[in-house]
Amino acid sequence: MKSNTLNRLKRLALASAVGLAVGVAAGPAAAQQKLKVGLMLPYTGTFAALGNAIENGFRLAVSENGGRLGGREVEYFKVDDESDPAKATDNANKLIKRDQVDVLVGTVHSGVQMGLAKAANDNNVLLIVPNAGAGAVTGPMCSTNIYRSSFSNWQPGYAMGEVVAKRGHKNVVTITWKYAAGDESVGGFKEAFEKGGGKIVKELSLPFPNVEFQALLTEIASLKPDAVYTFFAGGGAVKFVKDYDAAGLRKTIPLYGAGFLTDGTLEAQGASAEGLLTTLHYADGIDNPREKAFRAGYAKAFPSAPAPDVYAVQGYDAGQMLATAMAATKGDAKKFDVIHAELSKATIDSPRGKFTLSKSGNPVQDMYLREVKGKENRVVGIASKALSDPSRGCKL
Ligand code: PHB
Repeated sequence: MKSNTLNRLKRLALASAVGLAVGVAAGPAAAQQKLKVGLMLPYTGTFAALGNAIENGFRLAVSENGGRLGGREVEYFKVDDESDPAKATDNANKLIKRDQVDVLVGTVHSGVQMGLAKAANDNNVLLIVPNAGAGAVTGPMCSTNIYRSSFSNWQPGYAMGEVVAKRGHKNVVTITWKYAAGDESVGGFKEAFEKGGGKIVKELSLPFPNVEFQALLTEIASLKPDAVYTFFAGGGAVKFVKDYDAAGLRKTIPLYGAGFLTDGTLEAQGASAEGLLTTLHYADGIDNPREKAFRAGYAKAFPSAPAPDVYAVQGYDAGQMLATAMAATKGDAKKFDVIHAELSKATIDSPRGKFTLSKSGNPVQDMYLREVKGKENRVVGIASKALSDPSRGCKL
């Protein structure tokens, strides 16, 4: 054997021995292995578009980091959770037990989130919630391994309760899907609206993900409230806004909503959404360079996807939060104390505007008042500055 070939073989043997040694050691060891990220999101059903936007946003943040977090190359695993709470535990376990992921990113639906958060806590896995607002997740279930890049259901509801009271409305009917997100969104609205002197005359609901609104719209017409507050999202929001308009209610009884009502939905809602006022932590026309760069980067990375909406931003910020956490632990996704200390003091430079995280891991953020103009949710003002979820029941 030629001596230079021999030297090459020796070098290779040495390199793999070093690789092995590094591979078994703790800490920096992990830097050599891929960081397995499990995306548990809805890719079918009424929230399918939301799941896709979240994944796109997350991937954009990771690719802006050179495809690595805390020095580890990111590898993706995916499960379609179908927004079905009954399948949540099994779906979470596909990622945790079968794929052995280091980090979970999910999900959209609050009912599914409960199963996913429990599985993350039971198995000591880091979880970043890129949408679902279930109060319990950053309330009684809060933990140093759970963080949210989105909102609590209470937040946009509370902000809108203040707005509607200030606009002088006294009697309001609420309408939503009967599950955690709808109940909590209405709960937040009611808390602020009643504080402002308003009264909820009727709370209407239908099971998720039903869209047979007709009987309920007839009831609203006969109740004749000053205004209506609603939480619907995705495909259901598209249908609700169109049906509300078609029933002739848009011009007579003002409709207010948590911003999901008109985010990612305006193309499909068309003129039926014109003029609607909603509250959310994102909007069109936020004038900051971060937002402009994000939109340009998103359009370049996903040329055939719809323009980025709140869900894309939440996915992107989940990626930014994970990047911050993994930089602090050098890629170790089990150092929850270090992650908690780091994220508790971090400022996330989001396209929505800068935000911080409460001790319970929920964003403390501005709630914009937005008005639908053309195909956009234009900023009217800030309804609630640096609004923090009360995180009732969190012991952190
Ligand atoms: C939720 O179930 O928490 C949820 C779903 C869709 C949204 C917002 C909240 O747009």
